[in-house]
Amino acid sequence: MHIRDARFLTSNTEVAKCPPAALPEYAFIGRSNVGKSSLINMLTNRTGLAKTSSLPGKTQLINHFIINDQWYLVDLPGYGYARVSKESRAKWRKMIWAYLSKRENLTCVFVLIDSRLPPQPVDLEFISELGERGVPFVLAFTKADKQSAGKTQQNVDGFLAKMSETWDELPRWFITSASAREGRDAVLAFIDEVNGQ
Ligand code: GTP
Ligand code: MG
Repeated sequence: MHIRDARFLTSNTEVAKCPPAALPEYAFIGRSNVGKSSLINMLTNRTGLAKTSSLPGKTQLINHFIINDQWYLVDLPGYGYARVSKESRAKWRKMIWAYLSKRENLTCVFVLIDSRLPPQPVDLEFISELGERGVPFVLAFTKADKQSAGKTQQNVDGFLAKMSETWDELPRWFITSASAREGRDAVLAFIDEVNGQ
């Protein structure tokens, strides 16, 4: 896919205020700091389109971007950051699950998993909830540049093995690195395929 246009549209906290639900939509979620915003910038070839930070908790709202006037990319705030009040956590849950369960054009959620880590309970719990609510998702293992390809694959295998304890069917998955621009073609080809192009 050639990305000829990528534009920021809106930031908000409510499904009702999202752009018209007339185009396929792909949302990026995962632990705070896992690299959601960076991956969006890498995929769109636009540094700074989505705001990134070395400190967790940068993205706080539901951010819509429109690509080639044909589909939406959505950057979401992350979960699992320890230094967050109970109150903020509850607000995050309410906003995110309202968005994930009510956004009618939500085609697929990319759940980003840090490729450096063994399976994290917080990721497995989030994925279980997606399953319970019937939200379609794929996995993107991030920051693959931080270690050898062998180590990355070992962690991917470990994560999938853990998932297969409770899931009959495993989701599609991608290995990515925003820094090394790895996984771009595969992710964009998948989106093309789902968009029916
Ligand atoms: P929140 O919005 O806070 O939830 O974080 P996020 O998931 O959007 O992460 P973000 O893209 O802001 O990146 C967090 C940090 O990780 C930044 O310092 C990025 O430069 C770094 N980072 C993101 N992706 C990669 C990657 O593929 N490789 C490396 N080495 N660093 C990365
Ligand atoms: Mg972010």
